[in-house]
Amino acid sequence: MSASPKSPPRIITRGDDLRREVLAWRANGLKVGLVPTMGALHAGHLSLVERSNAECQRTVATIFVNPTQFGPTEDFGRYPRNLEQDVALLAGADLVFAPSVEEIYPTGHATFVEVDGVSRQWEGAIRPTHFRGVATVVLKLFNLAPVDVAYFGQKDYQQTVVIRQMVADLNVPIEIRVCPTVRELDGLALSSRNAYLSPDERRRALVLSRSLRHAKDLIAAGQRDPKSVTTAMKSLFSETAGVTLDYAALVDPDTIEEVNQLRGRVVAIVAARVGATRLIDNEIIEVGS
Ligand code: PAJ
Repeated sequence: MSASPKSPPRIITRGDDLRREVLAWRANGLKVGLVPTMGALHAGHLSLVERSNAECQRTVATIFVNPTQFGPTEDFGRYPRNLEQDVALLAGADLVFAPSVEEIYPTGHATFVEVDGVSRQWEGAIRPTHFRGVATVVLKLFNLAPVDVAYFGQKDYQQTVVIRQMVADLNVPIEIRVCPTVRELDGLALSSRNAYLSPDERRRALVLSRSLRHAKDLIAAGQRDPKSVTTAMKSLFSETAGVTLDYAALVDPDTIEEVNQLRGRVVAIVAARVGATRLIDNEIIEVGS
């Protein structure tokens, strides 16, 4: 709202300090936005901070590599961490919450949030405890930072559906805003995990965004059979060596159930492993008449 440059954000590591700050701002009538992240920040994360700054008078960014959303064989240990660089990138935020694992999950922590239904398919089928970890940490962050609005990226489409469901079901008084996916010029969706890709894998990874564009083009050209569209998407993957498709589907934007008719709005979703790196992407498609 104000165009004047901000001073560098303060870093807070204790949950009760965060809560005090947010409540003090709100008591003064300031609108507060929250941008939860796991760090390794890129322009996608920063677009959420910008959006919050445009809509709120104060912005809190959180940096926490949340252990409970990683499966036992996943990349929790080697997930990129660079707090100093991240804080420098967060010059637009007023406060950075960067807690330790012990601060969020003290010994004896025993409560988890399970969002049924929309957590089960797609990412949930491949990563069975992932959304339980996401929902748990996001609710904890919402309790520690009782803000007006929280910002999430469309990039993780199913995550946004899970969070909206949780907020509705548990009467959380926070507005959820979903912001567009930020991409490289060649279409690759920005992701902290892109850092794992070799130059060759980086080229092959373009098949994800290409398959989404292909789906969009086919539908724009009048294709109305969802099966033909997903078959065409899948064949792009089978033509790309070194990339293993987990799923490519056209789903309902709210239920994320696979559609059997193309009308209204659908979401094309893909997930694939490029070498050892797992990537996801999606595109909202307006079907038209
Ligand atoms: P992380 O992967 O760090 O992403 C933080 C936020 O940035 C998420 O809302 C994500 O959707 C958004 N984001 C990532 N890449 C984006 C892109 N290319 N364009 C726009 N937004 C993008 O998602 C998580 O962390 C965690 O699950 C979290 C919600 C923080 C809970 O631990």
